[in-house]
Amino acid sequence: MEVVVVPSRDEVGPVVAAAVVALFQSKSKPVLGLATGSSPLPVYEELIRLHRADVWGVGQGVCFLLDEYLGLVPEHPGLYRAYIREVLTDRVGLPTQHLFGPEVHREDLTRACRDYEQEIRAYGGVDLQILGIGSDGHIGFNEPMSSLASRTRIKTLTEQTRLDNARFFGGDLDAVPRHVITQGIGTILEAEHLVLVATGQGKADCVAKALEGPVSAMVPASVLQFHPHVTVVLDEPAACKLALREYHKYTFEHKPSWQGL
Ligand code: GLP
Repeated sequence: MEVVVVPSRDEVGPVVAAAVVALFQSKSKPVLGLATGSSPLPVYEELIRLHRADVWGVGQGVCFLLDEYLGLVPEHPGLYRAYIREVLTDRVGLPTQHLFGPEVHREDLTRACRDYEQEIRAYGGVDLQILGIGSDGHIGFNEPMSSLASRTRIKTLTEQTRLDNARFFGGDLDAVPRHVITQGIGTILEAEHLVLVATGQGKADCVAKALEGPVSAMVPASVLQFHPHVTVVLDEPAACKLALREYHKYTFEHKPSWQGL
């Protein structure tokens, strides 16, 4: 696991976007996994900038969402599909048929979960998966005690996660769905490269538990310790509780320039 600590949120975007650009340069049909929430926004802002500057384009790339809310009408702006279109994919010209997410409006949801797994496999799996982390250590919407081998399925959100996400629903907790479909932890672990982004002091505790604590279903993100290619990009406040913070900075400062993330 590589941990990159940058001074502030502003430096997060270029570091992660460079890895996305490198992927799109190295593969003709890259598969990018997208997270929602606010953590990846600096990355998406940088990708939009690079797209406008003609440095990067979506080409034949496809994108897969980690998760989606259940129980919202198809035109609801709170759906993650609508959110990601607004903050990234429409802005960089990704055709809507190249954006995939769990099909939460189908009648047979068990089938929809299975089909989503199949769809990811049909595209050869996710090359680079961007992840955020919930304050309780969740990735995707895999709340604490999710099986570390879980596949795409329906989950019930904790009240804390609903509270954390109420800001996307005008602060109205009652409007936040209780159920979601999320890629499982086992599904996420199959991506070639996992890039977790966390910013702000509010993430310091869960980041320290996930990176330096024991691997436990109580902290789903701790499972990243088992993955062979993980990059964690943090700003100083999010990294402030890491015992090895200085070592990570030293390592990154002395990284050979030819070595990407
Ligand atoms: C939601 C999303 C996660 C995201 C998490 C953290 O629960 N399903 O993918 O990582 O929120 O969100 P934020 O980045 O806004 O703190």
